[in-house]
Amino acid sequence: MPEKCLPHQLNIAVFASGKGSNFRAILEAINAGKIPNSRIAVVISNNADSGALETARTNNLPALHCSRKQFSSDDEFTTTLLALLRTHGVNFIVLAGYMKKIEARIIREYRNRILNIHPALLPAFGGKGMYGLHVHEAVLRSHQTISGATVHIVDEDYDHGPIVLQEQVKIRPTDTPETLAQRILEIEHKLYPEAIRLFAQGKVSVDGRHTAVTIAS
Ligand code: GRF
Repeated sequence: MPEKCLPHQLNIAVFASGKGSNFRAILEAINAGKIPNSRIAVVISNNADSGALETARTNNLPALHCSRKQFSSDDEFTTTLLALLRTHGVNFIVLAGYMKKIEARIIREYRNRILNIHPALLPAFGGKGMYGLHVHEAVLRSHQTISGATVHIVDEDYDHGPIVLQEQVKIRPTDTPETLAQRILEIEHKLYPEAIRLFAQGKVSVDGRHTAVTIAS
């Protein structure tokens, strides 16, 4: 029997390391009423200067700089993160350009309730080392005609869990890694809020045996 993913209020923790444009798009969608039953409970970044923390502060949302470097062991870091997530009532996690691996203990506690967005059509062009412009360089080097964006559930392997949504982008002969990244980012800003909406409306089921996602109409 597929497990229904969260047909109730989403209290979202956003993890982000960089500019935070996906976080901004998600926040705007929530504020515009496009993602029902959802709120941003906390934003966490390993990077004190991340745009995501700045956006959170501007919007009076809890913004936490929390990095492994502040702790003496992986275990202590993970225990602190889990405690913070509980304190903020988090029941759903969105990775929006988070450059660190999520520790197995967090994945277990939030099984099928952690999403990531990747700027390519997974399972191709994902995995360790495939981040930022490296992804688009690899796509162009291998003469693909399409690329795109993927929202997937996070499991223990990089860029690996069940795919929730994908959208394609046509590659132009004149594309550079930078132009392709920019066009895909624009797609991401629509795709990520849409994927979260599906969870918020209880439309996503995960069949653990096949690690497949079903989306109800
Ligand atoms: C996006 O391209 C996303 O796919 C990847 O990291 C980038 C984050 O961009 N995981 P931003 O920080 O949301 O602007």
